[in-house]
Amino acid sequence: MSHSELPADLTDSTTGESVTIQTEQGLYVDPKALSAHLPALSYRGDALYMEQVSIDELAKQYGTPCYVYSKQAILDVYQAYTDSFASLNHQVCYAVKANSNLAVLGVLAQAGAGFDIVSRGELMRVLAAGGAASRVVFSGVGKTYSDIEYALTQGIGCFNVESISELTLINEVAKSLNKPAPISLRVNPNVDAKTHPYISTGLKDNKFGITHEDALAVYQQAADLSHIDIVGIDCHIGSQLTEVEPFVAALDKVIELIHSLRDAGIELQHIDLGGGLGVRYIDETPVSIDEFAQALLPKLSELGLTVFFEPGRSIVANAGVLLTQVDVLKPTEHKNFAIVDAAMNDLIRPALYQAEMAVIPSMLPSAGIDTDGTQPWDIVGAICETGDFLAKDRLLSLATGDVLAITGAGAYGFTMSSNYNSRPRASEVMVSGDSHQLIRKRETIEALYADEALWQAQ
Ligand code: LLP
Repeated sequence: MSHSELPADLTDSTTGESVTIQTEQGLYVDPKALSAHLPALSYRGDALYMEQVSIDELAKQYGTPCYVYSKQAILDVYQAYTDSFASLNHQVCYAVKANSNLAVLGVLAQAGAGFDIVSRGELMRVLAAGGAASRVVFSGVGKTYSDIEYALTQGIGCFNVESISELTLINEVAKSLNKPAPISLRVNPNVDAKTHPYISTGLKDNKFGITHEDALAVYQQAADLSHIDIVGIDCHIGSQLTEVEPFVAALDKVIELIHSLRDAGIELQHIDLGGGLGVRYIDETPVSIDEFAQALLPKLSELGLTVFFEPGRSIVANAGVLLTQVDVLKPTEHKNFAIVDAAMNDLIRPALYQAEMAVIPSMLPSAGIDTDGTQPWDIVGAICETGDFLAKDRLLSLATGDVLAITGAGAYGFTMSSNYNSRPRASEVMVSGDSHQLIRKRETIEALYADEALWQAQ
């Protein structure tokens, strides 16, 4: 079967319908149909392009493994958030952890984004990229004295506080700097986000936030502290949520609290709904930003508060690909392994969360799934771990030297990469129209041990 002969549902680019065929041997992801769902990518003839630039050219010029991001795709999703919530005072605080490259942060800062950070390092990146400290919210369960001191000195917009002990510490630091600290409490609403357990955060069993039941009392405690300025309420229930119901359930719980706070004389300026909106990696059908807005707007507009969001994945995931080259083909009696030059140190999501990400060729083979050339392959790295895989049982037609693009890799790709097996981290490139720029050099191996020393003590 050639691409043009694929069943209609595989080539439909306008609906959420399947772009895959599951056979006994493995999963076939139709590259053309998939790319039709990814705004930054398209096939021109047989060649894969990001915006106006050929993927093969990028691989040739910058080498592999290499992360490539589309500037336009990032801006389009940011704009979709601001358009969908245009009827309300709102602030999109991009979650830096998803992709913290300075170029990505700079593009978003220029567009007017705020930022959600979880470390001093992320704040330093935001400032280096030209972001405004006043539009930064600081999340995370373990802020230290020096983190807080730095953030307060820089004038950040809000600390999202996750415990009484953090609240007390922030007050102490603020007192020593004689500068009141703006805070929200992160409320844990005990709502099931129905996502992978490692990325679910809004359940009682999770380490995050202050329980819904305790929140009012902690707010009252905060109101009595000399250097705490209560400005908002915050909640984040998890990541890669594909349905809107858990967001609505969490919002309802937070609204309940806002009413109790008002009754107790505590007035807020903003409500922060966190991040978490899911994306389509292969066949998922996540709620769209517009549907998300339609479900929340009626409830939000009654509150009269500024609304903050902290999206990470939904802004950058599908703006990025990881390019990798096939180095070795190793068919065995039971399995075929394609060993590529990217590995779990470059992209850990498949190994850590059993995430299924699409793998598509930079150059289409002459025909589709039923040709002799298509076989099931495990796409694996060269790391000495069985868990080092990027995709399993994928029907592909492969030859050594082929360049593959792993899609959806713009979020939690490079930021979660490591140097395991003394592998230098990949380069990063940004594409805009027909231009492209190296936005992070590939690490050198020497740099990996430059700060180490031989044992010399006598
Ligand atoms: N705000 C807070 C407080 C968060 O903890 C997170 C993500 C976000 C916002 C952004 O959520 P997003 O819109 O990206 O879903 N490494 C995992 C995802 C971990 C998410 C952690 N927190 C993955 O690759 O799936």
